[in-house]
Amino acid sequence: MPRPRVYVARRIPGPGLDLVRREAEVTVWPTDEVPPPRDVLLKEAAASDGIISLLTDRIDGALLDAAPRLRVVSNYAVGFDNIDVPAATSRGVVVTNTPGVLTETVADFTMALLLATARRIVEGDKFTRAGRWKSWEPMLLLGPDVYGATLGLVGFGRIGASVARRARGFGMRILYYDVIRRPDMEAELGIEFASFEDVLRQADFVSVHTPLTPETRHLISGPQLRLMKKTAVLINTARGPIVDPDALYQALSSKQIWAAGLDVFEVEPVPKDHPLLTLENIIVVPHIASASVETRTKMANIAVDNLLAALAGRKPTYLVNPDVWERRRP
Ligand code: DGY
Repeated sequence: MPRPRVYVARRIPGPGLDLVRREAEVTVWPTDEVPPPRDVLLKEAAASDGIISLLTDRIDGALLDAAPRLRVVSNYAVGFDNIDVPAATSRGVVVTNTPGVLTETVADFTMALLLATARRIVEGDKFTRAGRWKSWEPMLLLGPDVYGATLGLVGFGRIGASVARRARGFGMRILYYDVIRRPDMEAELGIEFASFEDVLRQADFVSVHTPLTPETRHLISGPQLRLMKKTAVLINTARGPIVDPDALYQALSSKQIWAAGLDVFEVEPVPKDHPLLTLENIIVVPHIASASVETRTKMANIAVDNLLAALAGRKPTYLVNPDVWERRRP
């Protein structure tokens, strides 16, 4: 039996790749900063039984058609909006992801971004380095209190719930909106369910935690931003396209809302000349909410486990398309 061939679309941390090398012939895209170009991905997929993909790699029908022996796409992420899952399912290709391990790390980062945006930490650092700190000033870099403010969670899955747990420690009132209401969590965490519009209207901080789907693309655009308080702060650590960046620019530059903190952007990397980057009242960071050493290593280990299980004919723990399993490609 020839060993399977595996393509890994970027170096990943930890010992995982060595485990894959024991079981398979492995090719790794060698450049850390950028993903393999489309033509490279297509060529490698065509010759592979398994792929470890990242959220930067588009796995669509065309790629799957060009990859007749591909059996598993193991995504190194909890989100899988880079993969056309129905296309994979209809072709018998197993898709897996890495849920759970990044929940607390992303929730930590959400609070960090929320605090940094409210309390103007990045502006303060730039101000100090620029030699502009002259004395203690009563009016310098004022921002809203986080303690005691109202947090509005748009989307209430694992990460939303972990953010709520942290926000309780800040004495925040917590509202949430999700398509699924969670009375159990309302009782456990003392949070309140509200309509999407009421969350936007009442929250001092709106934090986005929905997956990206056709329904959530530009979920936060002009009309939604106009419902928010003039003093409100918007935080997005979920997926960039959920927030319309042009509408956000209008809202921030006209002071319709007070500030925003983005870990994700509609087009990543954010174009260098995007007008949002000219504003002081926004922090934009390069999709690093899950970037702790421990979590990225755990994600790698799970992606490797999923891949090796599927290649060996064992059902992976984190199957995105479980209905494919009985009729997967041999
Ligand atoms: C994911 O796993 O979907 C995250 O966005 C990566 O940090």
